[in-house]
Amino acid sequence: MHHFAYRDDILHAEDVSLEAIADAVGTPFYAYSRATLLRHYDVLARALADLNPLIAYSVKASPNIALIALLARRGAGADVVSGGELMRALKAGVPPGRIVFSGVGKTREEMRLALEAGIHQFNVESEGELGALNEVALAMGAVAPIAFRINPDVKAGGHEKISTGKAEDKFGVPIARARAIYGAAARLQGVAVKGVDLHIGSQISDLDPFRIAFSRVAELVMDLRADGHAIERLDVGGGLAVPYGNNGDPPHPEQYAAVVREIAAPQGLRLIIEPGRLIAANAGVLVSRVLYVKEGAARRILVIDAGMNDLIRPAFYDAYHAIEPARRKPGPTSPCDVVGPVCESSDRFAKDRPLPELGAGDLLAFMTAGAYGASQASEYNSRPLVPEVLVAGARFDVIRRRPTFDEMIARESLPPS
Ligand code: LLP
Repeated sequence: MHHFAYRDDILHAEDVSLEAIADAVGTPFYAYSRATLLRHYDVLARALADLNPLIAYSVKASPNIALIALLARRGAGADVVSGGELMRALKAGVPPGRIVFSGVGKTREEMRLALEAGIHQFNVESEGELGALNEVALAMGAVAPIAFRINPDVKAGGHEKISTGKAEDKFGVPIARARAIYGAAARLQGVAVKGVDLHIGSQISDLDPFRIAFSRVAELVMDLRADGHAIERLDVGGGLAVPYGNNGDPPHPEQYAAVVREIAAPQGLRLIIEPGRLIAANAGVLVSRVLYVKEGAARRILVIDAGMNDLIRPAFYDAYHAIEPARRKPGPTSPCDVVGPVCESSDRFAKDRPLPELGAGDLLAFMTAGAYGASQASEYNSRPLVPEVLVAGARFDVIRRRPTFDEMIARESLPPS
């Protein structure tokens, strides 16, 4: 459910028309709905309420500090994977005690920053990282609370590029070696073992892989406890799928919560969950303007002013985003390709998509672009990052403005010679 809908044939974000935002900030831009973002958080929080979870919003999905701050005020924590994300979470007002630090390649400097802040947990992914974290903590006179990310060898995820829980993936420690690794950690003075962690992939629309992975980890928790480790926390990662308009209805958070409850409740584990897409995806759209309509050899081609640098998901994962005109067009549709201005054949958002008669100057919106949209944008082809706008009722605020060309180039310099 989201708050982007037509009113008198004009597409609105809550009470604001996308045309009005385009007039104010130009195109392309990302627009987020505050009500949708918070609704998604609330639905998940309600589904898991009896488990009193730490819902650590996975910042990578949509990292604007305004969005993190909205969720933090609602009670969310943050799942971060870099020093930059940690700084964003802190700046947005997330209490350090609600921050978990994931990621396969944390640097010592990042570890130091997180220890200084006093975060809730490091999700450690290798013995090398364990050794480094122990050394950094000891040097600071600190103790790092840790969980190991377990690789349960389960295949899951909407696309090969976003599956993370198979044995051959780079993520986590192999479940078969987990007991030995926990044993090694228990002998170190700079870390304190608190829990277990997993994250098996993203855009997972089948609950079975979760069930299998969770039950493998539940067994491991019993073994670890038998070995004398005080395992009190379970971090189940993120990964639940959202509807993109071409994949039916993924499981409801309530159904997912039931699967989580089966593992977390009997063992009395404090639950941590790291949702990203589930919270942000349907809360954002990318709005772009048609520049030209070409009659291609195969079909009509709409050339728009957004490119793969602004929304890379179609090029990267063959991802589908529904395309809605900002002003509803009556009449028949015809198959179109929708392409951007970037000099790459993969700069194509849709192929052979039935769309109404759109002409130069018309606006269109890519739906469900709130997660991994702006966050994966780049300046490729020296195209400045597009603005982000937050809509709340009848009001909208620019939460990231469009940089000037000078600002884009300002970090570079000519060598003196
Ligand atoms: N926790 C960890 C450790 C993760 O790596 C991720 C996502 C999440 C939580 C949040 O997962 P979610 O709830 O959003 O599925 N760029 C891709 C998705 C990559 C996901 C990376 N990790 C896409 O656009 O589909």
